[in-house]
Formats: sequence, C-alpha cells, structure tokens
Amino acid sequence: MRINFIFANMNRDKHITKHIDEKLQGKSLQYSQKPENRKKVFIESYGCQMNMNDSEIVASILLKQGYNTTDNVDDADLILINTCSIREKAETTVRNRLKHFNKLKQNKPQTKIGLMGCMAERLKEKILEEEKLVDLVVGPDAYRDLPNLINELEDGRKAVNVLLSKEETYADIEPVRINSNGVSAFVSITRGCDNMCTFCVVPFTRGRERSRDPESILFEIQDLQSKGFKEVTLLGQNVDSYLWYGGGLKKDFDKQPDEIKAQAVDFAQLLDKVATRFPDIRIRFSTSNPQDFSLDVIKTMAKHPNIAKHIHLPVQSGSDRILKLMNRKHSVAEYKAKIDAIRRYIPDVAISQDLIAGFSTETEEDHRATLDLMDYVKYDFGFMFAYSVRPGTLGAKKLNDDVPHHVKLRRLRQIIDKQQAHSLYRMQQFVGKEVEVLIEGNSKKSDRHWMGRNSQNAVVIFEKTGQEKPGDLVKVLIDDCTSATLFGKKI
Ligand code: SAH
Ligand code: F3S
Repeated sequence: MRINFIFANMNRDKHITKHIDEKLQGKSLQYSQKPENRKKVFIESYGCQMNMNDSEIVASILLKQGYNTTDNVDDADLILINTCSIREKAETTVRNRLKHFNKLKQNKPQTKIGLMGCMAERLKEKILEEEKLVDLVVGPDAYRDLPNLINELEDGRKAVNVLLSKEETYADIEPVRINSNGVSAFVSITRGCDNMCTFCVVPFTRGRERSRDPESILFEIQDLQSKGFKEVTLLGQNVDSYLWYGGGLKKDFDKQPDEIKAQAVDFAQLLDKVATRFPDIRIRFSTSNPQDFSLDVIKTMAKHPNIAKHIHLPVQSGSDRILKLMNRKHSVAEYKAKIDAIRRYIPDVAISQDLIAGFSTETEEDHRATLDLMDYVKYDFGFMFAYSVRPGTLGAKKLNDDVPHHVKLRRLRQIIDKQQAHSLYRMQQFVGKEVEVLIEGNSKKSDRHWMGRNSQNAVVIFEKTGQEKPGDLVKVLIDDCTSATLFGKKI
C-alpha cells in the first residue's frame, strides 16, 4: 500500500482579498458540469458545532471539485465522516459506524471512505492500518487540500494530510449550509485552542489558536442575511480569546510592534461591530472560557438588544483543587464574581454549563463543591460528562484516573438530577410572561406547531396561526413548561 502525504501551501491572505473582491463585483462561481455528471458526497458529522460548520466548509470545497452533497449514503461516490475525539465514546461511535459502511463497501467497492476532523488528526495514518476500509484521512486544517487528496484516491492510492496550520481560518470559503435550517447559521471566528486543559484533546487535534479576519466575518454574515438567515452563532473553542492583528497565531501577538497591537480587534470589539452592522440578525456565540470572558463583552451584550441573552460558560468543576489540576485558570470565587457581574448588567440572562464528573483524584468533598456551585448559579441548562481519559493529554500522562467508573456515574447522575431541577425552575420563570421567539421550523412532534427559541435559547413550541413562517420573530405568551421546553400561544 502506498500512502501519499500532500501538504497544502497557499498564500491565503491574497486569496481572501481576491475572492471577496470578485464577490463584491457581483461575479459568482460557475459550475459548468451538468447535475447528472456531478459526483456525490455524503457527509456525516459528529461532535461540536465547529465540526458541523467545518462540514459545510468541506461541502463548499468539494462543490468546486464537481461534488454535490447527498442525503442518501447508498448513492454516494465519497463518504466523509467528520469525527470527534473529545471522549472515548465519541470515537467508539465512529468505529461502529465504520462497520456499517464496511457492509456498504462490499456491495459497492468503488465508494471511497474518508475520515476527517479530530479523530483523523489524533490517529493520523495509523487509522489506515486499524480500519482497512478507510481511503482518506484529513485533519481539520487540511481541507483545502481535499481536491489533491481526492485525485490520489481516483488514482487508486490512499491519501493522508494531517498538517496543522498557523494561519488557516477558511476565511474566504463560503460554507454550503448543509447543517442549517435556513434561519440560523454557524460562523467560525477562531480555530484551535491554546489553553491546554489537562483533560482535553482539542489543542492536539485542532492546533494552536488563531483568529479570522473581521472583514471576512462581516462579509459572511452579510451574505447570510441576503439569503434570508436571521440568526448567526459565532463559533470558536474559546471565542472570548478572539484577537485579530492581521493573521497568525494568538501566541505571537505579544511579539508584534505597537502600531499593529494598537489596531488589533478583540472579541468585545468584534461583537460590537457585528451587532451594530446587523441590527436585524440575532447574534449568539459559543464557547466562552471564564478566564477570558471580559467585562467589555458583558457591556457589549447589555448594549445591543440583538445579542442573545445567553452565555455558555463551562466551569467543569466547583472545586478549586480540581480546577487547578485541570489547568483551568480561574478559581471558584472568580467564576462566581463573573456570574454576579453578568447578572448585574444583564438581569434576564440565561447561563449554561459544561461539567465533568469524576476527574482524577476527585473526592466526595470536591463533588459536593460542584453541587454547591450549581446551587449558587442555578444554570438554565448544561452538558454534563463522566471524565474520559484522552491519550496524549497531560491528564493521561501525569494524573491517575482513580475515580471508579460506578462512582463517576453516580456523581454524574447527581449532577444531572440537580441540573434538571434548576432547568425546570428557570423555565417556570417564563410561565405567564411574553417572550420573543425566532421560528426555526415545524415542531418535531406535530406539524400543527412551530418550534423556535427565545433570546435565552429556550425551546418554545406554539400552535401555528397561518400568519407566520420560519424566520419570523413573534411574541408568544408562555402558559406551560417542562425542564426543557416552553409552551405558549402567539399573541
Ligand atoms: N472550549 C470548547 C470545549 C470543548 S469540549 C468548546 O467550544 O466547547 C466540550 C466539553 O466537553 C468541555 O467543556 C468538557 O466539559 C467536556 N470534555 C472535554 N474533554 C473531556 C474529557 N476528557 N472527558 C469528559 N468530558 C470532557
Ligand atoms: Fe479544551 Fe480547555 Fe480549549 S476545554 S478546547 S483545552 S479551553
């Protein structure tokens, strides 16, 4: 077996400017092939919102390469699985899915199968040995190289590119919105992460942190608005750390001359630009890291009614000792002070969490501290996980995964139960009140009802009146709720 390693090398800044200029002049790309001659790619995405958006970037790159996306896997010439490595279970899910594709490939051997995303980056060419049916391995910074890699496949070779980049942000690529409802879209603003939380594999799979040119972000939102989108979510592993100073790694910012530093754009400034330029677009962002979440961002949120009143502020643990072992750069007291400041400026804000149960050496006392913090904040909702050791992280190398599995699960259960009680409490506060809902589409359970979200990101279900459509912002009087959903009537 011959494996080819191909490395992309492009002058991306020039590329960005040229592409934007062409678009501003009203030129658009022409796809000369007839639809029936185009090949078909099936893209399946796992993991975070960033992965969903990356799949849309890949769909765009492949569109120019003669591929249309398909929802029917049996129809596909190329199957791409956008993978997640965050917990062991995420990887096991992909391995099981590959078994299914194995059967499919027996019936249709010409179908090519590619792994992209974090698992591709983590396992690199080793995955070709472990999973014989995989033809292509491509890491999160190498998607521009897909046309070359696919040529390799067409020549009967396997192909790998897992090179991480210092400047890749895909700023000039117009994502094909395959993971969207036509109302709400993801816009990536940073890539990678420099934080090195000891439990987390992301810095290894997505590389060092870099930010995207604000002009290209504004341009993309403008384009979304012209296509009828009403909401954007600005995405990054750590959005509050956004810093544009002309391109390059965040860690190299300090080495820049003063005049460059003076012109830099931080997250609060970006948020302000976006909210000012697009008053009719509802703006969300994710994920915030408490260490970087600044008062300026809180003030910007308070200033603009079109910035959604929701902050996802993962804390991971309520114990200072565990936070330190996790290499989180704040204490519980600092976190609580941030929560207090947020609530002072934005009283009706929703706050959500990520929490990990059973991190290395976690005691019952540490666990109780987590439950106490939850009682203090009373989060609106959250994402809660049992600790899963990830190979290569400092947690795997230096710390003992010594909390027994059944203890992790019991603590996780207690955390989830508490969160459910708090979610119900938060949802009950909306009952009897009027909320503004952006309609996303039909309710899953009944097409006589609409589903949308309010500013605080709570799901709202209400009966259709025949006067409204997806994308409309409507007022709904809430009359009932569960811990996850609000119900009401349009007024
Ligand atoms: N900043 C990122 C965090 C990515 S991981 C973001 O944009 O969301 C999402 C969440 O997964 C983390 O906040 C953490 O709670 C959880 N997580 C990460 N690594 C984990 C591990 N090894 N075991 C269990 N949960 C983990
Ligand atoms: Fe992971 Fe911590 Fe970054 S959770 S994505 S290393 S902020």
